[in-house]
Amino acid sequence: MTTHPHGAVAVTAPAKINLSLGVGSCRSDGFHTLATVYQAIGLYDRVTVRADDAVSVTVRGDSRIPVDGIPLDDSNIAVRAARLLAEHAGVESGVAIEIDKGIPVAGGMAGGSADGAATLLGCDHLWGLGTPREELLELAAELGSDVPFALVGGTAIGSGRGETVTPLMTLGEYWWVVLESENGLSTPAVYREFDRLADDTVDLPVIPDALMMALRGHDVAVLGASLVNDLQAAALRLRPELAHALEQGLLESAYGAIVSGSGPSCLFLCEGRSHAVQVATGLRSAGLGPVSFAPGPVHGARVVAADGQG
Ligand code: C5P
Repeated sequence: MTTHPHGAVAVTAPAKINLSLGVGSCRSDGFHTLATVYQAIGLYDRVTVRADDAVSVTVRGDSRIPVDGIPLDDSNIAVRAARLLAEHAGVESGVAIEIDKGIPVAGGMAGGSADGAATLLGCDHLWGLGTPREELLELAAELGSDVPFALVGGTAIGSGRGETVTPLMTLGEYWWVVLESENGLSTPAVYREFDRLADDTVDLPVIPDALMMALRGHDVAVLGASLVNDLQAAALRLRPELAHALEQGLLESAYGAIVSGSGPSCLFLCEGRSHAVQVATGLRSAGLGPVSFAPGPVHGARVVAADGQG
């Protein structure tokens, strides 16, 4: 298959947060069993794919999001995604991938996974494949534990190592203030610290009933009180200063404060947009930053532009 129905395809994919992240013991394949509730929030990476002879990637950040740490070789997740889909579908052409980052790098918000998901979807359109959803989700799971959720979006339960995603129907919108860190944290390093802190008898992870009830009733106060992240203690051991940031967010009237995934981004749950502006302003006045805010849940990866034969 070598047809190119589009010259270029642009896809956006959202950041993910974990409203609860229950982590069990380490499996024999090196991954941990998870029971998590994902939510996609309104910070996006934009990935543009164009027909080309070889597979290549470029990444643009800005002063808020330095991108020096992102590899541009075959280990880049977007490159892996393009090659995986090409191999799966028997496509022999290459693709030039351009990534515009809006999601913090190595921030615990699955920015790399968003790029992997967006590239799968973008190349599927670029190459006119129409790959069935189930197959795209399986390819996404091969790329990383959080990649299937980046395709699905919304609010969803994650199980297995996080790659098995079950969408949840929820009411209404939530607003999140996101406190980013200048330096990212390595996910494997945080899991290693989790293993060091855990005793030998880690229970099977569960999702708190209170959290599910809060989502069913759109109860912001109860949701704020039931946010939980089993990786938080490990992230705080590696970044003790985050504890102060979490406390400050609660002082600024957030309903809940939690480290995002493996960190170091911190999340503060707010009542609505104007409350988020107030909490964000308070954190900035306390000398913390960079700070942004976003609603959730939002849709998963989707095509936003496709031009004609290029
Ligand atoms: O799946 P992904 O490539 O995003 O995982 C990155 C790393 O995070 C893994 O190599 C592993 O060290 C850790 N991880 C884990 N258990 C999970 C997900 C990730 O230990 N469920």
